[in-house]
Amino acid sequence: MLVPLCGKTPDLLWLEERGNDVVGVELSEIAVVAFFEENDIEYEKIDGQLRHYRAIDRSLSLYCGDYFEFRGESFDAHYDRGALVAMPPDLRPHYAKHTTSLLTRDAAQLVITVEYDQGVCAGPPYSIDADEATMHWPRLRRHAWVDDTENAPPKFLEAGLEKLHEVVWLADED
Ligand SMILES: C[S@@+](CC[C@H](N)C(=O)[O-])C[C@H]1O[C@@H](n2cnc3c(N)ncnc32)[C@H](O)[C@@H]1O
Repeated sequence: MLVPLCGKTPDLLWLEERGNDVVGVELSEIAVVAFFEENDIEYEKIDGQLRHYRAIDRSLSLYCGDYFEFRGESFDAHYDRGALVAMPPDLRPHYAKHTTSLLTRDAAQLVITVEYDQGVCAGPPYSIDADEATMHWPRLRRHAWVDDTENAPPKFLEAGLEKLHEVVWLADED
C-alpha cells in the first residue's frame, strides 16, 4: 500500500495492522525517524536515491525524500490523507499523475479530502471539490461526508470559517 507524504502518522500502523504491506514516502527525515522511534519499531537504513527506512519485524517501509522522485513497484493499494490536500492547485495534477503511475490499473484507493469555503480562508489543507477529485482519479466515489469543523485548523476558525467537511473517497472496483 502506497502512502504518499505520510509524515509520522499513526495511520501507517493502523494500515499495517490490517494486513497491508505499507510503503510511505516522506520528505522530512525528522518525521521518518520519529515515526520509528516513537513507536519503538526497530529499523534498518538502506541507501538509495531516496533513503529507505525498513522495519525489521513489520511490513513497514518509509522512503525519505521528494515524492516526485520516488519510483517503485506497481502498488495495488493507495492511502491518501493530508497529501492531495497539502498540494497547491498547480501541483495537484502532477501529484495525482505521478501517484497513478505508481499504481496498478485497478488499485484499491482510500482518499480523504476536505471541503470548505475557500473564500473565507485559504489552504493548506486545500478544499477539493468532487469534480476535481474525480478528474484526478475517475474511479473515486464519495463514500462518506463528515462534519469535521471542530478539527479545522485554528487559523481557519479564527478567519471565521463555520463549516468544514472531511470527505472519504473509495475507488470503484472494476
Ligand atoms: C499535511 S502533512 C500530512 C502528513 C500525513 N499524511 C498525515 O495525514 O498526518 C504533509 C506531509 O507531506 C510532506 N511533504 C511535503 N512535500 C513533500 C514531497 N514533495 N515529498 C515528500 N513529502 C512531502 C511534509 O513533510 C509533511 O510531513
